[in-house]
Amino acid sequence: MALASTENPTVSPGHAEDAQNQRFGPAVALSCRECGARYDLGPSFACAECFGPLEIAYDFGRVTREQIAEGPANIWRYRSLLPVPADVASKPNMEPGWTRLVNAGNLARELGMRSLHVKDDSGNPTHSFKDRVVAIAVEAARNFGFHTLSCSSTGNLAGAAAAAAARAGLDACVFIPADLEHAKVVMASVYGGRLIGIEGTYDDVNRFCSELIGDELGEKWGFVNVNLRPYYAEGSKTLAYEIAEQLGWRVPDQIVVPVASGSQLTKIDKGFKELIELGLVEDRPYKIFAAQAEGCSPVSAAYKAGHDVIRPVKPDTIAKSLAIGNPADGPYVLDIARRTGGAVEDVTDPEIVDAIRLLARTEGIFAETAGGVTVGVLRKLVAEGRLDPEAETVVLNTGDGLKTLDAVAAEARPTAVIRPSLDAFRAAIA
Ligand SMILES: Cc1ncc(COP(=O)(O)O)c(C=O)c1O
Ligand SMILES: [Zn+2]
Repeated sequence: MALASTENPTVSPGHAEDAQNQRFGPAVALSCRECGARYDLGPSFACAECFGPLEIAYDFGRVTREQIAEGPANIWRYRSLLPVPADVASKPNMEPGWTRLVNAGNLARELGMRSLHVKDDSGNPTHSFKDRVVAIAVEAARNFGFHTLSCSSTGNLAGAAAAAAARAGLDACVFIPADLEHAKVVMASVYGGRLIGIEGTYDDVNRFCSELIGDELGEKWGFVNVNLRPYYAEGSKTLAYEIAEQLGWRVPDQIVVPVASGSQLTKIDKGFKELIELGLVEDRPYKIFAAQAEGCSPVSAAYKAGHDVIRPVKPDTIAKSLAIGNPADGPYVLDIARRTGGAVEDVTDPEIVDAIRLLARTEGIFAETAGGVTVGVLRKLVAEGRLDPEAETVVLNTGDGLKTLDAVAAEARPTAVIRPSLDAFRAAIA
């Protein structure tokens, strides 16, 4: 039954509010994105009235730029905007975020753009943006008394969850499609806990996890992207906050975001909107562009066909971290791209590899395939005149190229292998 905590007749309102505040900070309820029904904060993710997805609703107090600037150089500087307790930084958890915003002048020149930044999330503790979302999920898991942290993952989330569980003293049991890149398997296993490879796609893994939640085997388990999804998803808002703060408290004109489930993109939009509503940035329009790999582009296909419904696909691409064939937030991505005046576009596997090399060659940033997708789509949109080259643009690199070495390995070799002599070197570079 939809019921706000403060209406709970067994607890006096003042105490209930205090207790909730200590556990969830400014978060006050779960609210349905479709019908608006409200629920107590709990480990649930679907509306009992209409099955719509639930997200966190807040009652923000006064938040100032100065307060934020006094906080630590990680996502906890935004704790007053997240569903976490005020003392979150004092407990063992990861400290992701405050990654660099690189002024990408070389790449901008190459693409014929005026102002371009790369938000480089490869610098997070397990080298992808997933550390942001998992850090919030850990707080939710603690709040609900879960002993095990779990997830269905295309690789990066598995590593982030295993690492965060280790640090927080929780058990970990993470699930991945069995055919992922070797580096991601190594990362997900090295932190301890259990790593289960499933014969199937990410969508099969996710279905399996939903079944496990309903079984006694999965009791007291927090699945970061299933029963903790509303909390987990809020971690992506910190990307929006950081980009705005690092630009001098300004929302960029345009941003290009990779899409798997679409959660990151929808929460970046939510983050920008919150900053505007709180008066922390000027209320100016911004465009959000979504990037997919052609071999798994259900959202892009729907966008191009002018459909509102996403038709699931079976992925076949080197961008395995984005290989979600049935994206939960796909319809919201479509809506945001259309509403803000952005677009959804996709690139082929060879274009992804080219874009990885382009970013590395121009800016010294080695992206994983997801970053290749984003930069590739940026390049395509600029070339086709669909993204304004004069407007201030931010492109996301969400993961580290060391995780997907095979994508570029075919062309990677020394310029020459020589004897240690000047003559040999002279001959080699002639
Ligand atoms: C490196 C990387 N970038 C982007 C994404 C897309 O995230 P979302 O599922 O929120 O769209 C993922 C998802 O796994 C990822 O691993
Ligand atoms: Zn609903």
